[in-house]
Amino acid sequence: MTRVGIIGLGYVGLPLANAFAEVGLEVRGVDRDDSKIEAIAAGRSYIEDVPSEELRAHVGSGAFAASTDGATLRECDAILICLPTPLDEHRNPDLSYVIAGAETAAAHLSPGTLVVLESSTYPGTTRELVQPILERGGRRVGEDFHLAFSPERIDPGNARFGIRETPRVVGGITAECAARAEQLYRRIVADVHVVSTPESAEMSKLLENTFRAVNIALVNELAILCERMGIDVWETIEAASTKPFGFMPFWPGPGLGGHCIPVDPFYLSWRAKAFDMTTEFVDLAGRINVSMPYYAVQRIQRALNTRRKSVAGSRILLLGMSYKPDVGDLRESPSLKLLELLRADGAEIQYHDPHIPELPSEGLASVPLTEDRLRDTDCVVIATDHAAVDLRVVVDCAPLIVDLRNAVRRGLGEGQSGPVPSNVDVL
Ligand SMILES: NC(=O)c1ccc[n+]([C@@H]2O[C@H](COP(=O)([O-])OP(=O)(O)OC[C@H]3O[C@@H](n4cnc5c(N)ncnc54)[C@H](O)[C@@H]3O)[C@@H](O)[C@H]2O)c1
Repeated sequence: MTRVGIIGLGYVGLPLANAFAEVGLEVRGVDRDDSKIEAIAAGRSYIEDVPSEELRAHVGSGAFAASTDGATLRECDAILICLPTPLDEHRNPDLSYVIAGAETAAAHLSPGTLVVLESSTYPGTTRELVQPILERGGRRVGEDFHLAFSPERIDPGNARFGIRETPRVVGGITAECAARAEQLYRRIVADVHVVSTPESAEMSKLLENTFRAVNIALVNELAILCERMGIDVWETIEAASTKPFGFMPFWPGPGLGGHCIPVDPFYLSWRAKAFDMTTEFVDLAGRINVSMPYYAVQRIQRALNTRRKSVAGSRILLLGMSYKPDVGDLRESPSLKLLELLRADGAEIQYHDPHIPELPSEGLASVPLTEDRLRDTDCVVIATDHAAVDLRVVVDCAPLIVDLRNAVRRGLGEGQSGPVPSNVDVL
């Protein structure tokens, strides 16, 4: 195996291209976004986990080349599809990107090529949707080409578990398809776990993400209950976490973000309906998690109330717009929902996020976190706790802070459960 094609060079595809180039394979990338192709050609990374120097070296040596033209995939030994799997306006799976990607692969497939779908999706997608597209014109899977599903597990911003450190799950249409995929991924990952079908591999990804969604919903519900009961939920979770077996901590917050956890469970519940099932855990978790920004706004209203202020007319500074710390990914970020709800209630919103310099859709740009500005706000809302933010200055200067991440105590070295400064209200 010498040449790998990757369709979709976003959060998943670009780090993957970099990893394959790193181990000496020739990588050919395809993306429909001209600006990404230009950035790659200039050796400029637009994904925080891919250093520009590495990209530049691979582009310079010819190991990695990208284009908007699918013809670049000709003569590839493997083609990996890393395209978005969003929801449509009715919150049903939108497979249009995967279909387009499969059509691109089909148009440029060489005999014997391995095609792998990496996008998170419902069980059955690889066999029922991708395989027929590749078989158009009389090609046969297992004979003329190979087909497998291998879910991407990348966690942007995770310094400990990157592509190489995270085991891979692979399921092929035939045993030979699986073996080919296993062989490919072993080039970049030490641990490849082969399952018997693509459906098992597809389901394993949905299980992983639904597991997170359900557990986060559980602690979110507990956070609301603990607040009513006067119990510190963070201290409670920290205490439960001392159990060395059978417990895993999840932490509450203003809601779910990112491309995976808020979206994937809907793929599962949608597919379940075709089998006369309703996935009640999934749906309940979705309801609780979706309600969290509304709960966070209630907490902001109540905090302002203690200062005899209303949301209407208050200057509120949102700290952290991306959905998780230390990355610039805005997709499905609960901060955007908080912004919308607080503005609808008449607040004057500013934001600070070192990873998101501008929010053109909202007509906003990140403001510097100066002492004067902090003193001049009515309330700072910590929505995402980026490491680059000096929380000591925020606590010393802002009159009121609503901390939706328990960031202040952790940031000031108090752990999850130390004393809370008097101007801070913790979720
Ligand atoms: N981002 C993550 O952390 C993550 C983690 C695990 C799995 N996933 C899954 O991986 C898949 C891809 O997600 P992502 O985050 O990389 O998405 P992304 O939006 O960052 O990247 C997708 C890329 O595909 C390109 N594209 C769209 N249509 C195209 C087409 N027809 N031809 C060529 N290029 C096209 C876009 O321009 C974009 O660059 C999704 O199914 C997602 O659920 C994402």
